[in-house]
Amino acid sequence: MDPFYKEIGMNNRSNMVKVAVVGGEGIGPEVTAQSHRVLNWFTAKRGVPMTMREAQYGIIPYLATGKVLPDDTVEAMEEADAIVWGATGGPETKEVPASARKAGSLLGLRSKYDLYANLRPIVANPALSDSAPLKAHVLKGVDFVIIRELTSGIYFGEPRGIETLADGQRRGFNTEQYTTNQIRRVARSAFELARTRRNKVCSVDKANVLETSVVWREEVIALHREEFSDVELTHLYVDNAAMQIVREPAQFDVMVTGNIFGDILSDCAAMASGSLGMLPSASLGPMDKFGRRKALYEPVHGSAPDIAGKGIANPLGSILSVAMMLRLTLNRPADADLLERAVDAALAAGARTADIAEPGAKKLSTMEMGDAVLSALEKVAGREREHA
Ligand code: IPM
Ligand code: MN
Repeated sequence: MDPFYKEIGMNNRSNMVKVAVVGGEGIGPEVTAQSHRVLNWFTAKRGVPMTMREAQYGIIPYLATGKVLPDDTVEAMEEADAIVWGATGGPETKEVPASARKAGSLLGLRSKYDLYANLRPIVANPALSDSAPLKAHVLKGVDFVIIRELTSGIYFGEPRGIETLADGQRRGFNTEQYTTNQIRRVARSAFELARTRRNKVCSVDKANVLETSVVWREEVIALHREEFSDVELTHLYVDNAAMQIVREPAQFDVMVTGNIFGDILSDCAAMASGSLGMLPSASLGPMDKFGRRKALYEPVHGSAPDIAGKGIANPLGSILSVAMMLRLTLNRPADADLLERAVDAALAAGARTADIAEPGAKKLSTMEMGDAVLSALEKVAGREREHA
């Protein structure tokens, strides 16, 4: 046991890592159920020291309690080191008034826990190149991480609102803003991550037009000069970045950008991975004095209401988010690798949900894909033991 973890008592059963499992809405509960099986496998078979607490979110608790985020869920999240989140949103959410929705929104949670660093890894799996929307040669070697600032920018800037002008027109307005500290802390995350990878950071802004971006770029440059001059730093305007992501995605290692640019670019980059259903994410808060940080892990795909309840959604984005949790919250890189290798093995053996199936391929249900990952875990872990 690393002395650091010993000191903070992470090896003590009474101080296990607490995980809140919140399926939420749309396909969220279906995919999260498969992640939950994977979590159980890691506690049972690998002795990963964590406890899981399931909690509800969305329309179901709203109808029962008047809150999309009921008190029990707030408590589960409050005590959790990590939250495994499914999805929010869907057509049925019209039944939930906007005020109730807002009171328990995902944006509110990001803000409440100050989850400022949103990591969205984009990896193209060669096994999926036949079902991918981009050509195989463009996807070759794609392996980068978008770090999106998640608690500031135009999503949260004030003033904001909708007003009616004297001539009767309506005017909607929002405020884009970034401060030195908000920029530097997320840029620091990007530089630190790059040092563990290929040592390259590309910062994305719109500094030819926006003052916010002028400050963004200057602060990134200053931090780089002061603390990270060993890391290669480049800058792109966001419009060019969008083009480069589809033209030559393999050029990127770590990309760092603000909230709304990161939202848009990460959907764009999903196509450079081959499938949106495959993408995991981690949202990390500030580090406390024990080196711990609150974290929320969720697939990028969202609630996909059109296929919700059918049992056909791809659980791999959620399962790969669990791999990120093993690495980032539990500090178990070998277990994270094991899970990623199991997902690769399942895909290599031909396991496909509908979204990643090439024409004519057999389509697995959400549950069957969970089965495929669990049996791949057994196999990969077994091979590891033989080689030990
Ligand atoms: C995302 C989503 C969210 C966002 C929505 C659901 C508020 O699109 O996480 O990318 O815009 O941040
Ligand atoms: Mn988005």
